[in-house]
Amino acid sequence: MSDLMEKIVSLCKRRGFIFPSSEIYGGFRSSYDFGPLGVELKNNIKKAWWDEMIKNHDDIAGLDASILMSPKVWEASGHLSAGFADELVECKECHKRFRKDFLEENKCPDCQGELTEPRKFNLMMKTFAGPVEDEAAVTYLRAETCQGIYMNYENVLNSMRLKIPFGICQIGKAFRNEINPKDFIYRTREFEQIEMQWFCRPSRINANSARLVSRGSLANKTRIEEWGTDEWFEYWKKERMKWYLDLGIKKENIRFREHVKDELAHYAQKAVDVEYKFPFGWKEIEGIHDRGDWDLSNHSKYSGKDLSYFDEEAKEKYIPHIIETSGGVDRSLLAFLIDAYEEVKGARTKTTKASKEEEIVLHLDKRLAPIKVAVLPLVRNKEDLVKKTKEIYQLLKTYFICQYDEVGSIGRRYRRQDEIATPFCITVDFETLKQDDVTVRDRDTMKQERIKINELVKTLKEKLEN
Ligand code: GAP
Repeated sequence: MSDLMEKIVSLCKRRGFIFPSSEIYGGFRSSYDFGPLGVELKNNIKKAWWDEMIKNHDDIAGLDASILMSPKVWEASGHLSAGFADELVECKECHKRFRKDFLEENKCPDCQGELTEPRKFNLMMKTFAGPVEDEAAVTYLRAETCQGIYMNYENVLNSMRLKIPFGICQIGKAFRNEINPKDFIYRTREFEQIEMQWFCRPSRINANSARLVSRGSLANKTRIEEWGTDEWFEYWKKERMKWYLDLGIKKENIRFREHVKDELAHYAQKAVDVEYKFPFGWKEIEGIHDRGDWDLSNHSKYSGKDLSYFDEEAKEKYIPHIIETSGGVDRSLLAFLIDAYEEVKGARTKTTKASKEEEIVLHLDKRLAPIKVAVLPLVRNKEDLVKKTKEIYQLLKTYFICQYDEVGSIGRRYRRQDEIATPFCITVDFETLKQDDVTVRDRDTMKQERIKINELVKTLKEKLEN
């Protein structure tokens, strides 16, 4: 593991972002638990994504489908066939197993031993629904959340009185029996997806049925011709990149990579990965896929239910095509953490004795920061100061996720908050008792300003929203 990754893993454990699962039993197969700060960060990422999809785009509806579905879903989707399998090789000496495409040489990376011939290994996680463990009870933990969306395509279309094009978005857990989970939370067997499926007409039938529709969410907010898959693919590529950049990912650390023909997933006609420059290389954090009519055609065929769409205006019937944006909460969380991480050499907080030590600052976007405001008495041995600080803390915690801290020097407490990305520290000092104001310290600029207590909520709201 690189130096930077070791530091991130250590920070995550030390400050309550991410812990190894079942740690007292030695951990469990690259599974992780999100601690008090990790769950806040994760929730903030999910909220930012949900708001982006639901508030910033017309014609997208939300869904929360079940993890367990009929096994027929996975037959129809192609996930039970060889298409959703990785090639596994085993070392004949140490018996460790590896994904073939992860190996640089045709020998064991650990002991240099000879490897077996590759065999296909399906990634679906099998389980039983009900008490009897026989073939009839076999089902699978979902490998991608979008299949739950396809199962509800007609329900949402009809109940929400939507017209094509429209989208359905969902956040939820997915499971894959990965051969080599690795790189901390980057590749795990249980992970969370943020997926949006955009149902639209195929580009090829665009010409004879072009009509004008209002798309308030489009960048130029003008009336445009209705698009087909090719146009929507480009549109969603741009929208997704904008989301990551807006939430603070540095431009030089993110890029698109188009899939070549032979790496396309079994369902995809075209695919572009959004890649982040992790310390272990450029890696996918989100996939944008043109799934064509693969899913709805197959589900129509396997279920016997016709899922085609009749366009009243164009008098056309067709199976909707799908452009999907499929991201991972865990992978984007790791990218946000790495991108925000800064080590400052020398004194940033001059009042600390330890000012010669390295200071860590997490410059997470304010929307993502787990704790929004820290409330600190200047000293803790003055009763009236502590009492006033606790009153202010009680007031603020009804509006923001706050932390009260009185332990250690004020400089050390600023450092503790910088390390977990808290955008603002409120310090209650002796002036507060006379003037009813406090200092508000900004994490990134370290500037402090005095704000009246009766204006504190309003000021913090404004600062956090900007
Ligand atoms: N519905 C399409 C689909 O699932 P994918 O490219 O296989 O496409 C989409 O996965 C996203 O899900 C990835 O970009 C990644 O963020 C996340 N993901 C996939 N496998 C993962 C794993 N083993 N661990 C963590 N995240 C994973």
